[in-house]
Amino acid sequence: MKMLYNRVANLGELDEVAAEIIDGFPRHRIFALSGEMGAGKTTLVQAMCRHLKVTDTVNSPTFSIVNEYITTENHYVYHFDLYRLRKPQELPDIGAEDYFYSGNYCFIEWPEMAEQYIPDEALVLRVTVSEDGKRIFTIN
Ligand SMILES: Nc1ncnc2c1ncn2[C@@H]1O[C@H](COP(=O)(O)OP(=O)(O)OP(=O)(O)O)[C@@H](O)[C@H]1O
Ligand SMILES: [Mg+2]
Repeated sequence: MKMLYNRVANLGELDEVAAEIIDGFPRHRIFALSGEMGAGKTTLVQAMCRHLKVTDTVNSPTFSIVNEYITTENHYVYHFDLYRLRKPQELPDIGAEDYFYSGNYCFIEWPEMAEQYIPDEALVLRVTVSEDGKRIFTIN
């Protein structure tokens, strides 16, 4: 079966990966980043935010579920990390739908934690570690 996207990359190649994904799926605004702990989800979100010209520091939200960034063109970008959700229902409770349907870019780490509340149109991007320590990025 042909994949929509498949690429192996080290840290120095992430800006290319970010550009390929953002520019390669121009109608998609919601990206669910799936992958084990330490796979490289946040690092890719940082690269995608750079590509979108986010000026804020990009890091996983630690005290909340979502971080809000702004680009040089005054567009918002939302970065979710659902790892610390105690139950899936917490996602709708914080008003996640308003973010998802805002038309702004949404990057969601650990979407598995609230699978039933992730919009169907979200593009699932898988990050896995290859044997040589590089990362494999796939969209099916
Ligand atoms: N493409 C890459 N090639 C090599 N190393 C990478 C790559 N991407 C990320 N890393 C390294 O992997 C480590 C973990 O990255 P990161 O924090 O992005 O993972 P994560 O998937 O967000 O983890 P968590 O599940 O804890 O949120 C970092 O030290 C980072 O430098
Ligand atoms: Mg992370």
